[in-house]
Order: sequence, then structure tokens, then C-alpha cells
Amino acid sequence: MSYTILTGDRATGPLHLGHFVGSLRQRVELQHQHNQTVMVADLQGLTDNGNNPQKISANVLNVVADYLAVGIDPHKTTICLQSALPALAELTMYYLNLVSVARLERNPTVKNEIAEKDFARSLPAGFLIYPVSQAADITAFGATHVPVGEDQLPMLEQTNEIVRRFNHIVGQPILTECQPLLSNVGRLPGLDGQGKMSKSRGNAIPLGAGADEVHKAVMSMFTDPGHLNVSDPGRVEGNMVFTYLDAFCEDAALVAELKAHYRRGGLGDVKIKRLLEDCLQSLLEPIRTRRAEFIADKGELTRILQHGTRRAHQVSQQTLQQVKMALGLDFFSLE
Ligand code: TRP
Repeated sequence: MSYTILTGDRATGPLHLGHFVGSLRQRVELQHQHNQTVMVADLQGLTDNGNNPQKISANVLNVVADYLAVGIDPHKTTICLQSALPALAELTMYYLNLVSVARLERNPTVKNEIAEKDFARSLPAGFLIYPVSQAADITAFGATHVPVGEDQLPMLEQTNEIVRRFNHIVGQPILTECQPLLSNVGRLPGLDGQGKMSKSRGNAIPLGAGADEVHKAVMSMFTDPGHLNVSDPGRVEGNMVFTYLDAFCEDAALVAELKAHYRRGGLGDVKIKRLLEDCLQSLLEPIRTRRAEFIADKGELTRILQHGTRRAHQVSQQTLQQVKMALGLDFFSLE
């Protein structure tokens, strides 16, 4: 069975290991059997950076370089730019009428973000409605599957509510419901163990990080504050080094053995950090090299993005046309 897959990333900064574990790694596998589109979500990035558009524009090509560096292949995956696809903005306008403000305020991910960012009365209207714009992204491509981290599940629920509501109102199955493809490793916590890995919290390792940066990040990682002497028994739960070893070390038997040793006592933090650093350096080294090559040719990056966006434009315009037809609002076209 071939899925239709859509995912995206806000263009708010270079992508990091959290993105890699949560979704990028999976996309590289999925592109071989499935019809996959990956979107640089610059518009969504603007929803909480309205006064700093430069932050978004400066990161669009960074994200494309990250995609290519991890092995997303533009011959297999359609890579597109959200702001260049007018159908997405138009679909958002139609969908907005099918969602109440109360429902948007209940979206748990948005609710958390609003609290964290301390928006209060200055909450941008665009931020509150970004799940609706995300529903437009997903449905425009008829996505059946969306590879995401757990924090995105409320977005998919909200999308499916819109899909059902729309199809019910027009009495035809125009839009497609989607389901998540969760990675087997849940969301990756930050280096400090405080919430998810995020660039703005300064607890992230970017995919393009230099060897030194990786070394420093691993050595400063949060372990078990009660593990003062090597001989003391240590805690594995909540110990970020073990959480990351689970995510990045392929030798699961070795990790299990080390966990047992650490719990008994006699295994020092530096030893487990060295192993983790080895795993991360060998993962990131080829990514860093490829990324540097891509970033050196912005013209080529732009061409790749434009090429994919052209294809995405055709698909998303078709969906928009069907939506307008179903609503009886397709009186004429200006094309
Ligand atoms: N909300 C996603 C994030 O913050 C980015 C995104 C935008 C997305 N559009 C999407 C993800 C469509 C999946 C599908 O990472």
C-alpha cells in the first residue's frame, strides 16, 4: 500500500537532532515506497515571529539544506515552500469558518505554547489559527499519513475534525482524513532534560553542529545529580545520556548492559558520555559534510525548492478547485 505523506517544519532555525529522531529519519525511509511531500513552513514560522520576518527568510534554505543532508532525495520527495502556494492560504480561509475560537483555544499544543510564550492579550491571531493553516497543508495534498512527533497529534485531530465537518456540509467525500506516523522513539528531550529539544531553549544539537560543539554538548549533558562518585549507584530514568543512547546507539544490548552497570554503581558519567559522543559524531559527520556542500550553493538549493514547489502547486490547486466546486463558488477562473 502506498501512502500519501505530508510533513513540514517551521523555518525558524536550522533543524536539530530532535527533528531527526522525531521525523526526518523516518521520512528518509518512507520516500522509497510512498508519495511524499515535505514542506518548509515559513508562513507557520511567521505566526510567532511576525515582527522578525528576517529570522524566517534567513532559515528557509537552511532547512532545505538540512533535508538534503539527511538524505531526503528531491527526486523521490517533493520539497516545497509554504508561502509560494496560494492554495494553502485560500483553503485556510474556507476552513476558518468551520472551527470555533473556543476549539482553537482548547488545542493542547497551542494552549501550552501560548502559556510558554506569555502572549496574554498580545496573542497574534495568526498564531491561534495556525492549526487551521496546518489542516490546509495536510488536506491540500490529500495526505493519508503525517510523520510527526507526539506534540503534533492535536493538529491532526483538529485537521480530521475539519475534514469531517467539510465533507458533511458539502455531502461529498472531498477531503481526506489523515493519521499520524509516530516514530518509535518519542520526542527527544533537550540536553538539559527540560522539555523538548529546541533551539530557542539552547538545549539542542543542530544537524550541522561542528565536532567541537557536539563534544561540548555531550559533556555538559544532564545525568543523575545524585551520582557523585563513580562507585555510587546511578539513576537511568531521567538521565539524558541514557535517553540519547536509546535513541542513537544501535547496539541495544550494550546499552542495556551499561544501564545495569550504572544502576549497580561503578560506571562513571564520562564513560557513557564518551560512548554517546562516538555515536553522535559518526551520525553527524557525514550530515555536516553534505550540509556544508549544499549550503555553499544557494542557487542550486533555490532551484530544488522551486522545482518541488511547482509540483506542489499543481496538486494543491486541484484540491482548492474541488473545495470551491463543492461549495458552489467556482463561478469562473481568472487564469
Ligand atoms: N507544526 C509543525 C511543527 O511545528 C510544522 C508543520 C507545518 C507541519 N505544516 C505541517 C507538520 C503539516 C506536519 C504537517 O513542526
